Amino acid sequence: MKTITVCQRKGGNGKSTSALNLAHAFALSGLRVLLIDLDDQKNTTSAIAHQGENAATVDRLLIDDSVTIDDAAVATTWDGVSLVAASSNLSGAIRELDAEVGSHLVLREKLAAASDRFDVCLIDTSPSLNILVVNALCASQYAFIPLSSRYFSLQGLGQTLESTRKVTNRLNPDLTVLGVAFVIHDGRSSLAREVVEKAKAEYPDLVCGTTVGVNIRIEEAQVVRQSIFDYAPFDRGAEQYRALAKELLSRLSL
Ligand SMILES: Nc1ncnc2c1ncn2[C@@H]1O[C@H](COP(=O)(O)OP(=O)(O)OP(=O)(O)O)[C@@H](O)[C@H]1O
Ligand SMILES: [Mg+2]
Repeated sequence: MKTITVCQRKGGNGKSTSALNLAHAFALSGLRVLLIDLDDQKNTTSAIAHQGENAATVDRLLIDDSVTIDDAAVATTWDGVSLVAASSNLSGAIRELDAEVGSHLVLREKLAAASDRFDVCLIDTSPSLNILVVNALCASQYAFIPLSSRYFSLQGLGQTLESTRKVTNRLNPDLTVLGVAFVIHDGRSSLAREVVEKAKAEYPDLVCGTTVGVNIRIEEAQVVRQSIFDYAPFDRGAEQYRALAKELLSRLSL
């Protein structure tokens, strides 16, 4: 199983949206996908229709030694995607983990025990760098960094790359950056196009060739708890997310 943390220090730059749509795109290409929501805003959990409301949420998975991925992963209506749901109790879990030695490795240990059940695990994180994000990065081989093409998002990119570098150097030498992608891109704005060009010039190996345009259909799909592939399979947004998933899969050594 390959594990990918979706991270970005600047909020509202498409982490949850890309985690959701990439999870379904990977599943539609035949992979068994586990999606973990590690953000107490619960945006990912709310945007995917799932069963098993009584299953353990991610806070229980992290603080209770006896809870396994099998206890927490629930089936969803998105073919091939299982979900570990977030809860609003994550601040309690953060406090408990902060007080425990070696707690940055809890998720890594739990995922190792389930590695033959899934091909890909995607972890959605919060913008703040807390012990949950560190857990995700320590459990992952890859970080994926989504971006909007608004001017200030490049600042968030620098901070996020710095955090992943520190985790690689200090805690998880297996972690590399899978890619950076503009997933909320206003192609009509010349400033936005400049931002994309600047990022490509600065990080030529990291920035994906595929961009996802600003698209109301992508937002609407979340309201009805569908991926863009079920909501509007022939829409440009579906086409772009399909292409992005293909590009990222070609970078994964599966
Ligand atoms: N391509 C797109 N076109 C239009 N709206 C989009 C697109 N991608 C995401 N959005 C919308 O932008 C908003 C922010 O996206 P999202 O919630 O995925 O960001 P986030 O990085 O997860 O935010 P947070 O840091 O708060 O967790 C959401 O309302 C989402 O529906
Ligand atoms: Mg989010």
